[in-house]
Amino acid sequence: MPEIQIMPSILAADFGHLAAGCRRAEEAGADQVHVDVMDGVFVPNISFGPDVVKMAAANVSIPRNVHLMVKKPQDHINAFVAAGSDTIQIHIESVCNIEKTLTAIREVGKRPAITLNPETPAHAIFQCLDNRWVDEVLVMSVHPGFGGQKYLGYVEEKVVEIRRRADWVDIAIDGGIDGETVVPAAAAGCNLFVAGSYLYKQDDMAAAVADMREKAAA
Ligand code: DX5
Ligand code: ZN
Repeated sequence: MPEIQIMPSILAADFGHLAAGCRRAEEAGADQVHVDVMDGVFVPNISFGPDVVKMAAANVSIPRNVHLMVKKPQDHINAFVAAGSDTIQIHIESVCNIEKTLTAIREVGKRPAITLNPETPAHAIFQCLDNRWVDEVLVMSVHPGFGGQKYLGYVEEKVVEIRRRADWVDIAIDGGIDGETVVPAAAAGCNLFVAGSYLYKQDDMAAAVADMREKAAA
């Protein structure tokens, strides 16, 4: 089973102090920082572009885990690589050549990842696993677009299927993850945990990160 990692999502940080929000994640012992990119087309909300990844890269040494909720990710890979992304997650539901886009990410030495919305079945990404186009799968446990939504436990079934198919792959889960939902998500087979609102509302983020890590490993 791949290593357990905790990834705070800066979508929940104070936008007036975004650099401090990135540093806060690193100082809390987080493994990676998750950056949510939304184009207002693939999802109803608009958030960050490459310059925010650049800012994150200038402020932390932990890897930048970049979630592209955009309709045409292929058009933006170069910009996000140049900005300092380490993992780039594209959606299987997006409009692009999936193989080409994932391969382009790998060819520049970055980690390709494939993401699925709650309603998308596991088999939609099996070709990505079987051909090893990805190092990571991101399972959405909310409908993407906004932080602070309720965890959708029914996606755990899909995590079990993905884990059964690929014991080597990192499986991340994103949406409504907290000190409680981390437990069933880990039991299903997730090893990477994105948490936005839960971690940023803590007085002691380090304690919450350690607690999540411990619960996921139990
Ligand atoms: C949702 C984003 C998530 C979001 C998670 O579209 O992809 O990464 O920031 O936020 P919480 O943890 O608050 O559900
Ligand atoms: Zn995300």
